[in-house]
Amino acid sequence: MSKVAIVTGSNKGIGFAIVRALCKQFDGDVYLTSRDEGRGVEAVELLKKEGLNPKFSILDINSSASIAKFKDFIQTTHGEIDVLVNNAGIAFKNNATEPFHVQAEVTNGTNYFATRDFCNAIFPLLRPHARVVNISSVCGFLKKINGKEPESLELQKKFADPKLTQDELSGMVNKFIELTKTGNHFEYGFPNSAYNVSKVAVSSLTKIQQREFDTSRPGDDIVVNSVHPGYVDTDMSSHKGPLSPDEGAIAATWLALLPENVTTPRGGYVWHDKTVVDWENGPTPSEY
Ligand SMILES: NC(=O)c1ccc[n+]([C@@H]2O[C@H](COP(=O)([O-])OP(=O)(O)OC[C@H]3O[C@@H](n4cnc5c(N)ncnc54)[C@H](OP(=O)(O)O)[C@@H]3O)[C@@H](O)[C@H]2O)c1
Repeated sequence: MSKVAIVTGSNKGIGFAIVRALCKQFDGDVYLTSRDEGRGVEAVELLKKEGLNPKFSILDINSSASIAKFKDFIQTTHGEIDVLVNNAGIAFKNNATEPFHVQAEVTNGTNYFATRDFCNAIFPLLRPHARVVNISSVCGFLKKINGKEPESLELQKKFADPKLTQDELSGMVNKFIELTKTGNHFEYGFPNSAYNVSKVAVSSLTKIQQREFDTSRPGDDIVVNSVHPGYVDTDMSSHKGPLSPDEGAIAATWLALLPENVTTPRGGYVWHDKTVVDWENGPTPSEY
């Protein structure tokens, strides 16, 4: 049976470029997925014009019905999955007028909670030696939890606690969202950025997921890493990033194709130049 790779939110931007790279480098079927059928089909057509042959499926990670339908489709069609890239994400623009507590809920709703829910639904389909890549950000570096001190330093310790569970992590993200409603989040140590909290949570979740696989499926060599793709020229960055989407896809694609029984990185936080970064202490190889 042929191998299968899935990239969420891949009708444009970095996800689209990851599909393009996987079509060239991965020996198997590559799924371009989109929450909108029209945008997804159009993206597939673009790659077909380049001589590539991605498959398409609709997938909205915010919808439990969409997740269930997608899982059922993959299970029936392929049985198992070899590569999963959790790329779908959102960011409010700096000049967004939505109240901060709304931004906190919506941003974390997609970037953290929907990613977590999709993983928890689809992970049972991962084949031994599967590779999972969670797209984080420079904003997912632990020190981006930089609200008032010393509370922020205590929060950093909690996010990095090697015994942290998914439920506890979700509780911390929910606490942030609650605190934004009264404007007390900074006092409690959280940053003034909903996006930073969501991406730190994604990198923290990555470590938890790796620990869970190491316990529940020891010997199956399932590897989960998070990656900062770089500052990339996409709609999200308002096309200000200096890297092209293809350049932003390089480290994620490398992580998706890590060889069998690799010892590092596992549960790591990886920079766009493929450096495995000490998530808690740094340094990071560059500013962004
Ligand atoms: N660009 C950067 O400089 C940068 C830097 C660090 C990290 N990142 C991260 O890289 C990832 C890709 O970002 P990008 O710059 O390529 O952004 P983008 O061009 O805005 O693309 C985001 C993609 O995610 C999809 N998406 C959003 N919510 C979704 C949902 N609920 N279900 C399924 N798909 C959904 C979007 O679909 P629609 O087209 O339907 O909206 C789009 O395809 C994100 O996780 C982002 O946070 C980006």
